[in-house]
Amino acid sequence: MKAIRGATTLSCDTAEEVRTATRELLQSIAKINGLKNDEIVCMMFSSTADIKSLYPAKAAREAGFCDCALYSSLEPDISGSLAMCIRVMVLADIDRKVKYVYLRGAKSLRKDLSDVINIALDGPAGSGKSTVSKLVAKKLDILSLDTGAMYRAVALKCINEGVDYSEKSQVDRVVENIDLRVEYGNGGQLTLLDGKDVSGDIRTSQVSMLASYVSAYPSVRAKMVSLQREIASRVSCILDGRDIGTNVLPDCLYKFFLTASPEVRAERRFKEDKLKGSTQTYEDILLEINERDAQDRNRAVAPLKCADDAVVIDTSEMTAEEVANTICERIQEKI
Ligand code: DC
Repeated sequence: MKAIRGATTLSCDTAEEVRTATRELLQSIAKINGLKNDEIVCMMFSSTADIKSLYPAKAAREAGFCDCALYSSLEPDISGSLAMCIRVMVLADIDRKVKYVYLRGAKSLRKDLSDVINIALDGPAGSGKSTVSKLVAKKLDILSLDTGAMYRAVALKCINEGVDYSEKSQVDRVVENIDLRVEYGNGGQLTLLDGKDVSGDIRTSQVSMLASYVSAYPSVRAKMVSLQREIASRVSCILDGRDIGTNVLPDCLYKFFLTASPEVRAERRFKEDKLKGSTQTYEDILLEINERDAQDRNRAVAPLKCADDAVVIDTSEMTAEEVANTICERIQEKI
């Protein structure tokens, strides 16, 4: 047995409006959850005290939901609560995953259930963002967008085209003509540069340093931020980066900032890279991390910075799984 919650609001208190809104709500719940009439066991409605024209249960019966038990109750008149609101709990004899449905003004009751949810995950290099982002995405069944990969692709294009990256006009020309796309395959995010999958090529230390450098150019940031906003507006995703909570999605409801000491971050990178066959020493990596931190924090446009309303998590003593669980718990608390 599953319980499906839903709610909607009326534009005026007339019997016709109660019929229309109730029918719309129930048909949406049935459609979105693939419910057949004989799977619905009962429907329990409550309506706010300002609705006096018709019981939603009667409207449900009139809309053709006749084979299940129906019940309506009146909510207390609570100041500040959403006006002219009908809420429902549908009990269905099913085992599959269900989706709650909030329509019209009632969408404001559950912003987390709006079609698209975005999570901002910022922090310095090596703080665990990309591992944690993938874990959270898996737990919440959303996509993980690695925004650093996009800056890395710009850096790779600069290298491939042999541009003098200290020349703003040359980098401007590169981003103006860049064909950069992000796609998702079985293994996760693919970064496509001019139609070619460069997901592996962008992970070198040369690209890391140059990505940090070119990401300070306003033209590069403007292009990347607009691509990121466009993706975030279409699909539910967790975006990991440096400026997601402060600049890309300042109105995002869920913001997290990961920290860890430079030594811990360098140690993590060292172990990760060693597994991939890298010969870079721990000392080299620590130096690179400190340089990148300084570059990312001190640039004039959208520097690496914790948003005032972000939850800060020091990951030094935590596993990625623990950090991902903490993030999911904090999101759950807010819902
Ligand atoms: O997360 P990463 O190491 O892959 O990022 C590479 C560089 O890209 C990073 O040093 C700074 C830049 N970057 C950025 O400026 N803003 C982002 N949202 C993500 C990355």
